[in-house]
Amino acid sequence: MSGIKGKVIAVTGAGSGIGEATALHLAGQGGRLVLGGRRKDRLDAVVDRITARGGSAVGSVVDVTRRADLKRLTDTAVDRFGRLDVLVSNAGTMAISPFDELRQDDWDAMVATHVTGLLNGIGAALPVFRRQRSGHFVNVASTAAHVVKSPQGVYAATKTAVKVLSEGLRQESGPDLRVTLVSPGFTDTEGVGRGASPEAAAALVRQRDEIAMPPSAVASAIGYAIEQPDGIDIGEIVVRPTAQA
Ligand SMILES: NC(=O)c1ccc[n+]([C@@H]2O[C@H](COP(=O)([O-])OP(=O)(O)OC[C@H]3O[C@@H](n4cnc5c(N)ncnc54)[C@H](OP(=O)(O)O)[C@@H]3O)[C@@H](O)[C@H]2O)c1
Repeated sequence: MSGIKGKVIAVTGAGSGIGEATALHLAGQGGRLVLGGRRKDRLDAVVDRITARGGSAVGSVVDVTRRADLKRLTDTAVDRFGRLDVLVSNAGTMAISPFDELRQDDWDAMVATHVTGLLNGIGAALPVFRRQRSGHFVNVASTAAHVVKSPQGVYAATKTAVKVLSEGLRQESGPDLRVTLVSPGFTDTEGVGRGASPEAAAALVRQRDEIAMPPSAVASAIGYAIEQPDGIDIGEIVVRPTAQA
């Protein structure tokens, strides 16, 4: 029996990229998936792929910036499968630009998605985990939480917040809960450069196309943390292509 088999796992940002790869990987190991994201058609497509392979998954349209949506996601897990074992907080936006462009809506979106979104997930899942006396938070940050590179200041700050919140949560989580921070480097997804300023987007896409690793590499890292025995907490994983400086 793998340590993933039978676990009820909610994943945000599950309609594409790392979230999609994670959902497929975990469902392939026998996890029961609850998938959240804003685009229903993308969630439905992932659910269909999982069920076509004999797996178990349900989708829920979720905007992580809304507290009630995260509550609906965790409620869906409990109503459908009777419990929630893992919340993978992965939803994100890489709308990167230099400060001088004053793209304040993008700054707000990164804070809302990565910081408020993570807190909304903690707020929804923590009571469930406490009630069950077990549960696992897996929070997706970035290598930008470790090294700041211009013009990624706002993005890096919000991902650093993910790192800090994860460690604070870990210290308070006690013997029953686990908290894992996963920091990917360049990963080959549609989100790289999306919403970024044209110059930043071109540089990011060029680098992605030259050196990025497949999203399945991040999915495997997340699976490794989840499959550990209950008493073992993988605190942090940094996974990047070898070619990334
Ligand atoms: N690709 C990389 O090189 C890289 C490196 C380090 C870290 N990361 C991080 O990895 C995570 C996944 O990114 P990705 O590369 O897989 O890009 P992606 O394919 O664009 O995935 C991001 C997902 O998040 C969802 N999302 C965005 N805002 C949301 C919101 N407010 N509520 C709910 N869902 C939302 C998007 O779906 P909807 O638009 O349908 O909601 C999308 O499916 C992000 O946190 C990103 O910062 C990526």
